[in-house]
Amino acid sequence: MKPSLIVHGGAWAIPDEFVEDCRAGCRRALEAGWEILARGGSALDAVEAAIVVLEDDPVFDAGTGSHLNREGRVELDAIVMDGKSLKAGAVAVVERVRNPIRLARKVLESCEHMMLVGAGAEQFAVEQGLPVCDPEELVIERERAAWRRCREGAHSWEHHFGHEGGTVGAVALDREGNVVAGTSTGGTCCKRPGRVGDSPLVGCGCYADVQAGGVSCTGWGEAIMKIVMAKTAVDYLRHSAAAHPAQQAAAPHAAASACVRLLAERAGGRGGLILLDRDGRPGFAFNTPRMAYGYVAPDGSFVVSP
Ligand code: GLY
Repeated sequence: MKPSLIVHGGAWAIPDEFVEDCRAGCRRALEAGWEILARGGSALDAVEAAIVVLEDDPVFDAGTGSHLNREGRVELDAIVMDGKSLKAGAVAVVERVRNPIRLARKVLESCEHMMLVGAGAEQFAVEQGLPVCDPEELVIERERAAWRRCREGAHSWEHHFGHEGGTVGAVALDREGNVVAGTSTGGTCCKRPGRVGDSPLVGCGCYADVQAGGVSCTGWGEAIMKIVMAKTAVDYLRHSAAAHPAQQAAAPHAAASACVRLLAERAGGRGGLILLDRDGRPGFAFNTPRMAYGYVAPDGSFVVSP
């Protein structure tokens, strides 16, 4: 099977001055994931490597540089889902883990449960030998200043440079034919402590099934949850897999576009998604001013959002 990879750095009103940083971040994430897939590595390794790059890049709302909650703290959510077993590993409301996608993978591979939250998730991180950090290490000055502006006046997305519900994600297909999807986020700005959005929820912010494809979502979590967007997209892919071969090439973009239409029409939401069908064909769609994304074209070149 020919490998494939697609990544995103969130669907949001990316200001002109951040566009190049977002493009560079997506390119670095593609490099990290593709280096693994091209030498025959697993989709799970590729998704983790790509998302770690995006979490470490402060331009994105995940890991370091995430939005702060009302109390001025970072709370992180992440998930990774294996399309062969349909097992996921997810964590939510973690404050002391620099790369929550790594912890999500530990849950996937080494935990009897599929989701851990808060102190229990952090305790599991320690048991698994993952380093924990000082929560302040995840806070950057841009977000601290935005939080202060919201506290002084009223909360406004304009104080957050267009971010409302950022998020990063990746979907990979490996040579063995496995599809893995992952999503990681700092959630929405000035959220209530303990708030969890779509990102770490199976079927909402992420879904993968080798029989159909894999999906990672971004945008306003409360709306994405209403339409269970990632599973909805995979179901569209599943139905299109039965279509005439001539129609299958367009199916990934059609599935992604149908989800974004449903998000707007049925839930009044804004956001986007990336996906691969079971053969590795990429698709994406968004109804925000911009989305940061990148994928590997059939000739091996990287295509990155304008
Ligand atoms: N999609 C990110 C969030 O709502 O938390």
